[in-house]
Amino acid sequence: DCIIRCGLRWQVLIFLLYLSHIASGQIRYSIPEEMKKGSLIGNVAQDLGLDLKRLRAGRARIVTGESIQYTELKTDKGILVVSERIDREQLCGDVTPCSFSFEIILENPIELHRVTVEIVDVNDHSPIFKNNHIKFEISESATLGSRFVLESAKDPDVGVNGLQEYVLTQNDNFVLKQHSNPDGSKFAEMILQKPLDREENPHLSLKLIAVDGGNPQRSGTVNIEITVLDANDNAPVFNQSVYRATVMENAPKGTYITTVNASDADSGSNGIVMYYFSNLKENLADIFDIDETTGKISVVGQIDFEKDKKYDIRVEAKDQGGLTDLGKVVIEIVDINDNAPVINIMSFTSPVSEDAAAGTTIAVVNVKDADSERNGQITCSVDTNSFKIKSSLSSYYTLISDVAFDRETTPEYNITITATDSGSPPLSSARTLHLRISDVNDNAPLFHQSSYSAYVTENNSPGMSIFTVSARDYDWNQNARISYLLEDTQISGTPVSTYISINSETGVLHAVRSFDYEQIKQLKLVVKAQDGGSPPLSSNATVKIMIQDQNDNAPQVLYPVQTSSSLVAEMVPRSADVGYLVTKVVAVDVDSGQNSWLSYKLQKATDRALFEVGLQNGEIRTIRQVNDKDAVKQRLTVVVEDNGQPSRSATVNVNVAVADSFPEVLSEFTDFTHDREYNDNLTFYLVLALAVVSFLFITCLVVIISVKIYRWRQSRILYHSNLPVIPYYPPRYADTLGTGTLQHVYNYEVCRTTDSRKSDCQFARPCSQNVLIMDPSSTGTMQRMQNEQNIMDEPDSPLEVISRVPSPPLLSLRGTTENHSLKHIR
Ligand SMILES: *[C@@H]1O[C@H](CO)[C@@H](O)[C@H](O)[C@H]1NC(C)=O
Ligand SMILES: *[C@@H]1O[C@H](CO)[C@@H](O)[C@H](O)[C@H]1NC(C)=O
Ligand SMILES: *[C@@H]1O[C@H](CO)[C@@H](O)[C@H](O)[C@H]1NC(C)=O
Ligand SMILES: *[C@@H]1O[C@H](CO)[C@@H](O)[C@H](O)[C@H]1NC(C)=O
Repeated sequence: DCIIRCGLRWQVLIFLLYLSHIASGQIRYSIPEEMKKGSLIGNVAQDLGLDLKRLRAGRARIVTGESIQYTELKTDKGILVVSERIDREQLCGDVTPCSFSFEIILENPIELHRVTVEIVDVNDHSPIFKNNHIKFEISESATLGSRFVLESAKDPDVGVNGLQEYVLTQNDNFVLKQHSNPDGSKFAEMILQKPLDREENPHLSLKLIAVDGGNPQRSGTVNIEITVLDANDNAPVFNQSVYRATVMENAPKGTYITTVNASDADSGSNGIVMYYFSNLKENLADIFDIDETTGKISVVGQIDFEKDKKYDIRVEAKDQGGLTDLGKVVIEIVDINDNAPVINIMSFTSPVSEDAAAGTTIAVVNVKDADSERNGQITCSVDTNSFKIKSSLSSYYTLISDVAFDRETTPEYNITITATDSGSPPLSSARTLHLRISDVNDNAPLFHQSSYSAYVTENNSPGMSIFTVSARDYDWNQNARISYLLEDTQISGTPVSTYISINSETGVLHAVRSFDYEQIKQLKLVVKAQDGGSPPLSSNATVKIMIQDQNDNAPQVLYPVQTSSSLVAEMVPRSADVGYLVTKVVAVDVDSGQNSWLSYKLQKATDRALFEVGLQNGEIRTIRQVNDKDAVKQRLTVVVEDNGQPSRSATVNVNVAVADSFPEVLSEFTDFTHDREYNDNLTFYLVLALAVVSFLFITCLVVIISVKIYRWRQSRILYHSNLPVIPYYPPRYADTLGTGTLQHVYNYEVCRTTDSRKSDCQFARPCSQNVLIMDPSSTGTMQRMQNEQNIMDEPDSPLEVISRVPSPPLLSLRGTTENHSLKHIR
């Protein structure tokens, strides 16, 4: 278009140059663009100096090379008007100044006049952006100074009316910088001057305004939409700085405690928060657990108030970008009464002496309860009234006695100390102390009876145990070790120890000697029991030992006196009546009681039908009338028997002469001589036997003495050892049966039982010392009687011999042992 137009223009120009020398004159007009059709451009006739007739005559007209005729010549007025809309932007574009030219040609004569019309720009265009919107996505982390080029606006107007500048709506983040292209066009860019914050302003809406310089000014606008992209620029933030929670001790696993909550202002993955425990103390993770995503804290292990009363846990909230926040969780544990008190014995004294006064400290205990507050408040008690428990220092208690002890009633105590806390329910524990009471010698030995009676039969063997006293002592051990002692009293002038000894350990009373009832009937002694305490305590008991009779004495016939001669006889007159008292056999028995009850029996009689003996009184009486046929010489044998078990007896021969005159008696009694021949015969044998026995005895004596002396020389000690000390005391007998005047010494050993059927032995019955000579007138017969007695002393049977043989040596032995014991004493 331009090329064509320009070509045309050049032709016109050349043409005009050609014409110029033909006609001259050139006019120039300036008009704004966009004038209405018919608007006056200029008065050409006037300007050219032509009158209207010439114009008309000359047929003035416009010649132009252009296709479009913008002007029209009004010849009738001689003016030039706008015939077509003139758009400068169309006509010239950016070329300034913009003008077009044409010629006015006149004929007759031809005249050429050049007219140039300059088009003056009018601001008829606004700057225009191609798009309505400009979109940006900018990360909030974009650095300051980042540039963002903006779209340029176009304004077809030129000059002042063209685009002059850009303006950005007010905002904090961006400033606008304008630049000019080499061709003079202008563009702008935004520069980030303040960081974007998605969290504050995720979207920005700005307007870019392009303005021109026309009057009135025209502008164009475009919206700039900025989306701020997220950057992980925000750390999570806990909604509380400290989370406080309480949880019960021993809470089961899974118990909810609290929830921590952190928020992250970032979006998307930058805003996802995870929770962790931070810097956990060892094994805290065994107790608590935090849910990584929800922040829920719960129990997973055993919570023990006694280990930790409070947990101070750091929690960390972390987003995906690794930004963190630290929070604090304070978990307080609520105590549960799960610990029983613990009793520790700090000191304990046992045994305690029984004389310890009430109020003595027995033990000190320490009581602890791991729980706190009420759960740890302890009360202590004991289960017996004999003790008290007192709180001394805090958690220390002293156990003191509240009574005086007596070991004999209560030798030991089991003291149970119970400690109870004040929890709900309360817990308690107990400890038992085993307290022993040690003995003090505060009890004397006590005999079971204050006096004892014991019985011992006479003729006991020496050393025989008689009786046992016993005492008991309520004390213990040494304090209760009792020794028995005999109080040193006298019994009829001799120390009691010569009668009785006591085993100090067992309390057994032993006879020291053989007792004879006929000498001593009872012993009274005081036994003392003494304990081993320090000082020792003792008590007494009296012991009465009754000696019991044994039937060891045969009856003794006191009358009629037994002599060897038969000269003594009772006279019974032939005229004696029935029941005539011939004589009375008088006998005594030194034994007592039954053993001395005597009975009399007629054993043998010349004429049994003539006499009888009173069973009780020993009276010999006739039981029929004596007649002449009865022999003068009557011989009765009366047995006196006691009532002992077994009984002992004695026989007595009573010669009775049944005569009226003494000569008659004498003649009769000479018959006894033939008895003598028999007796002489017997005497011979007896003497022989005696000789043999005596020989044996002396031999034995010599042998024994030799042996003794030999042994004594070998070793004296042997004599000290086992020989029993059996002192020999000849028994003494005091006649108590009434005669009062007779005191005899009997040797019972010699008086052996005899066969009473042997009449010869009847003579021998009285022992050597037992001969009573009742009739002083019969001294003439003494010699003979002594002879007979010697004979009678001899044993009357071989059996008797054997039994008698050891007897004298025995006596002798006793003598020697006595000597030894004496030596020993010395
Ligand atoms: C965290 O706390 C905020 C407000 O304090 C609340 O909106 C949000 O729901 C909480 N998140 C959780 C997981 O409880
Ligand atoms: C913090 O978050 C927790 C859990 O959601 C909620 O229970 C608590 O009330 C919040 N605290 C504050 C101060 O918002
Ligand atoms: C004390 O306890 C011990 C052991 O359990 C027992 O043998 C003893 O008999 C008890 N003593 C008392 C006085 O209860
Ligand atoms: C025991 O008896 C003796 C002498 O008979 C006397 O001295 C002593 O005091 C008595 N002791 C007691 C405890 O009775």
